[in-house]
Amino acid sequence: MENGAQAMPLDDGDLLDALEPFEDQLWTAAGQASQAADLQAAITDAAATALAEAEAKAKPVSERAARSGTEAAVGLEVAGQHLELPVITPTEGPSGIDVESLLKTTNKVVFDPGFMNTAAVTSAVTYIDGDNGILRYRGYPIEQLAEHSNFLEVANLLIYGELPSAAELKRFETQISRHTLVPENYRAFLNSFPKNGHPMALMASAMNAMGTFYPESLDPHDDEAVDLATVLILAKIRTITSYVFRAATSANFLYPDTMRSYVEDFLRMCFAVPFEGYDVDPAVVNAMDKLLILHADHEQNCSTSTVRLVGSSNASVYASVAAGIGALSGPLHGGANEAVLKMLDEIAAGGQSVGSFVSRVKDKKDNTRLMGFGHRVYKSYDPRAKIVKGHADSVLKNLGTNDNLLHIAQELEEIALNDDYFISRNLYPNVDFYTGLIYRAIGFPPAMFTPLFALGRMPGWIAQWREMVRDPDTRIGRPRQLYVGTDTRDYAPIEHRKNKKAKPEKSELDQHYE
Ligand code: CMC
Repeated sequence: MENGAQAMPLDDGDLLDALEPFEDQLWTAAGQASQAADLQAAITDAAATALAEAEAKAKPVSERAARSGTEAAVGLEVAGQHLELPVITPTEGPSGIDVESLLKTTNKVVFDPGFMNTAAVTSAVTYIDGDNGILRYRGYPIEQLAEHSNFLEVANLLIYGELPSAAELKRFETQISRHTLVPENYRAFLNSFPKNGHPMALMASAMNAMGTFYPESLDPHDDEAVDLATVLILAKIRTITSYVFRAATSANFLYPDTMRSYVEDFLRMCFAVPFEGYDVDPAVVNAMDKLLILHADHEQNCSTSTVRLVGSSNASVYASVAAGIGALSGPLHGGANEAVLKMLDEIAAGGQSVGSFVSRVKDKKDNTRLMGFGHRVYKSYDPRAKIVKGHADSVLKNLGTNDNLLHIAQELEEIALNDDYFISRNLYPNVDFYTGLIYRAIGFPPAMFTPLFALGRMPGWIAQWREMVRDPDTRIGRPRQLYVGTDTRDYAPIEHRKNKKAKPEKSELDQHYE
């Protein structure tokens, strides 16, 4: 307004009157504006879809995929969306579809109970071809290692990736032998557990406790600390396993003798009488050494995955391996060797025929498994079982043992391998089927079988843990879930809640504490 004149405010009536001559043009303009808005919305939607598709297509190949091969990406349609998923090509075995972007782009997760189809890591330690019964450590067939190598050399191979030279092996053996002694208060701690406690529980506690004695070796990102922890665990676990054995029988703990080899001294610390000479039969040392080699690693099984998962939180190698010992203790995993002996004992003691026991196994209502048979990965004969079977006969003969349980085991195997129930499910003997018989012939009770498995598995757990720590793809392990519980509901005060049973019964636990 010029000259400071004030504008008169228009009311709604004035405005409508003023616009009346332009009504037609206004309706036309409004219609065009609405079409333009629709058009703009359509353009925005199309642009967003095009952008999402372009992003999905142009998504940079993950670091893992970039490292491993050139296999074509796999297309996946999810709820009308097209995804191009990179494929990781391993050296051998099935390739992996990288679904890392799935949740972010589609709000869907992969559901895979028991990880039947899920590769959680890339690894260069161990390769298994379950269909063809192949097992290799760092590329070397298990048969060759069992035939020509020894446990410490295999440990070195698994952990450092190559067979050591003579000087490297000597240095490794010397380091291990130098650290075999455990502190006196650690011995006292191991002696303080109940005598009837399971040795696997004692072994897991011992591993966890080791971290408290060597705080300078705890940092997973300090290479020197990791190397120290590696040697400390391998060195002390031979002493600890012998103490775990002797603790159960209230026998004195012996001190290590560094002039003896790893396996020989382990057996001496298990079986010798204090202050008396002890000669170990070389055939027994050899048999034990082979068993340790066969158990040294087995890629991403339950206990190794546990070690990696715990370690992914930056927990120490001691805490991670202790968790692995816990996972190994279950009868479906490492505890199977003890369960096999129990099964064979029961068949022998019950006077039942092997055939009738197999019938029970096949009867689903009976809930009985043929322990030492079947494997998640091997769908043919476990190559470790083949080697153990070959040795069981000669070791037992060598030790002068005529074990009736060996005959029962052989008969069981014979029947099972010719029975359609086992054939159709690809159930073959696994490593645990015959190992217990050898351990027993050496003089170990069944409760010690799984600790012996754990002793052998130490290098594998350590190698896998070290690989996990150094892998740039490692992130804290954190599976997703599909929540199927109750939807949201309001808290009810206790006086408004009903008993779930008419009258709560006293549980065994209540009675125990009365
Ligand atoms: N006896 C009888 N039936 C069996 C056995 C067995 N030992 N193992 C598997 N089956 C049957 C099972 O009932 C199922 O039958 P169906 O299809 O009719 O339901 C089918 O075979 C598949 O079994 P699964 O349990 O789905 O197979 P899995 O891959 O989940 O389990 C296993 C693998 C090793 C846990 C299992 O074979 C088993 O329980 N074996 C006995 C325990 C044992 O020896 N464990 C040591 C494994 S080797 C050492 C190690 O590395 O830990």
